[in-house]
Amino acid sequence: MVCMENIKQLCYDNKIILAPMVRINTLPMRLLALDYGADIVYTEELIDHRLIRCYRKVNETLQSIDYIDKSDATVVFRTCSREKPYVVLQIGTSDPERAAKAAQVVEQDVAGIDINMGCPKDFSLKGGMGAALLFNPDKACAILSAVVSAVKIPVTCKIRVLEDIDDTVALCKKLAVTGVAAIGIHGRTIKERPIHPNRNHFIKAISEALNIPVIANGGSKEIKVFEDIIKFKNVTGCSSVMIARTAEKNCSIFKKDGKLELFTVIRDYLHHAVDYDNVAPNSKYCIQNMLQNIQETEQGRLFLESTSLQQICDLWELGDYCRQKQKKMNYLRFEERDVACN
Ligand code: FNR
Repeated sequence: MVCMENIKQLCYDNKIILAPMVRINTLPMRLLALDYGADIVYTEELIDHRLIRCYRKVNETLQSIDYIDKSDATVVFRTCSREKPYVVLQIGTSDPERAAKAAQVVEQDVAGIDINMGCPKDFSLKGGMGAALLFNPDKACAILSAVVSAVKIPVTCKIRVLEDIDDTVALCKKLAVTGVAAIGIHGRTIKERPIHPNRNHFIKAISEALNIPVIANGGSKEIKVFEDIIKFKNVTGCSSVMIARTAEKNCSIFKKDGKLELFTVIRDYLHHAVDYDNVAPNSKYCIQNMLQNIQETEQGRLFLESTSLQQICDLWELGDYCRQKQKKMNYLRFEERDVACN
């Protein structure tokens, strides 16, 4: 198997990966996963139209790079130098030209590009994106070929399996010819939900048929401890494994020496959220998904009432840390503005 590690290209062989998750995989969660041992971290899916509307800004205050939507000034993608060798940006697209343009917009700040070919949501399907591409292989291949030609970094795609194992293998062979560096496979069909068993034997057959790395996905229900990740890798015969829901609940699943207690994970998450000034609704959403039914406790009730990052930090004894950081950031922003005016 060809691995490009020696020329400093991201290599997808023998890796444990944070799978893409909308609203969860913003910068704090990606950094947390890297802290705990993930080898590669995917962003949430970002739609091509939106990326193309962005301009790039070096944020001196946060030491981050921000991609800002020109139409509404929102930060669409925030990244930093620490994650650059490991971050893969996932694009939602239905068009080769737009996909290539979107990939070029972010190319200099990411290690890889992924094309979402598995999202079963109405929004994606109606727009011809996500899993719609599974049923339009010519379009899927045209998108991958266009992106592979447009950028110098590796390109991957993430798919769901089809009803039939042979059809799925044939589709993957077709996708592999475009020059993608790896294929991520969620072992459920577009109609199947997380309660359905993951079709690990489909992933195994694909892995045996392709000569590029295959990344197994869909195993979270059976992944409770680190060793389960290795079991999933062995059962699917894959090069690499990609984890979503188990990591969403407790990101320390990536730690080889065992998971951490949830409140420690929340505090570690909050440090990154404060350091990169992550917006409060997004930070709250991520913590809510970690807390699950703990939200019914007194601390959970106070958490649900919180509206600012400061209030959330107060609940996990990080109030002073947040106050001091925000004070420093405001000072730096003031200085930056002052320099710009003079
Ligand atoms: C997802 N998933 C997903 N997949 C994708 O390709 N792009 C995305 O943006 C998202 N967003 C997303 C959000 C949330 C909250 C969840 C739980 C899942 C699907 C995910 O990457 C993965 O394929 C499935 O969850 C199956 O893997 P696990 O959960 O069994 O490890």
